[in-house]
Amino acid sequence: MSDFPITIDDARAARERIRPHLAPTPLRHYDELDAALGHGLRVLVKHENHHPTNAFKIRNGVSALTALPVEARRRGVIAASRGNHGQGVAWAGRLLGIPATICVPEGNNPEKNAAMRALGAELVVAGRDYDDTQSTVERLVAERGLTIIHPTNNPNIIAGAATITLEILDQIEAEHADRAPLQAMVIAVGGGSQAVGALTVLRALRPEVEVYAVQAAGAAAIHDGWHAKQPVTLDRADTFADGLATRSCYEGTFPALCAGLTDFITVTEAEIADALRLYLRTTHNLTEGAAAAPLAGLRALAPRLEGKTVALIHSGANIDADTLRAVLTHEL
Ligand SMILES: Cc1ncc(COP(=O)(O)O)c(C=O)c1O
Repeated sequence: MSDFPITIDDARAARERIRPHLAPTPLRHYDELDAALGHGLRVLVKHENHHPTNAFKIRNGVSALTALPVEARRRGVIAASRGNHGQGVAWAGRLLGIPATICVPEGNNPEKNAAMRALGAELVVAGRDYDDTQSTVERLVAERGLTIIHPTNNPNIIAGAATITLEILDQIEAEHADRAPLQAMVIAVGGGSQAVGALTVLRALRPEVEVYAVQAAGAAAIHDGWHAKQPVTLDRADTFADGLATRSCYEGTFPALCAGLTDFITVTEAEIADALRLYLRTTHNLTEGAAAAPLAGLRALAPRLEGKTVALIHSGANIDADTLRAVLTHEL
């Protein structure tokens, strides 16, 4: 059996399901960002923060919910989330008339909670962190007959995320063809949908492109597992990059990450905060911690990637005002 949960055909099929609902996001180049990074890098930023929910997870939600059979749509869906997956599922649910229940951990980002409620989702607050919340999801599935939309262990979710890389390759061909071809991508890993989606597309279409993964040092279970070549579960996931605050490896993505990644690194909270400020200064895009992590990773990898054309996925902008203030005043 393949280590990969989906094929390039699944990614293309997801793109067709998404196309009527979501416009392609911009792929931009910033001279100031290249200059700040040095090492002759040419960086292309894929602006997933420009979606209606300000994060790439909307692709995953639309891909998964448009693939559901009628009966499951009628009963409704449920997901555990720190916010962006929940917003993606809630947005797709509203679009398609599918009731959505989202389980979030206690103390979750209040602005993400408000956004999910505003999209019509029923919010259930339970569990001390994201992984803990999954048990509430399982109980509600048993009680209410809902369909779980797991943020990672679901091939249609990964196919949704794979459409980011399909779009990047098309945009490079259409808009950046006069420059060097893509040579590397640096991608943050929470559950691994973006990274495995990218690996699926690249191994079919551009197998020479290197893919580097990044986790926060305080939530590094998948990083640790990748280096140990076996799944690792940790007790804690401590990072202000809440989209990356996972503490286990996932069966839907771990084998493909092990098979496909060039390397897997971690970045500190200070490096993520620094990268967030750098994105603000050089691109003037609002950035949440999880989206700043790949830029922090690229800073660390820059000497190894000397002179290369690198794509970063700017995965989301849903940072709450208090965290943003702490980053801007260098408390983080
Ligand atoms: C903004 C943002 N970036 C990155 C990630 C991690 O993505 P993945 O779960 O595909 O690894 C998440 C996950 O929620 C996220 O919200």
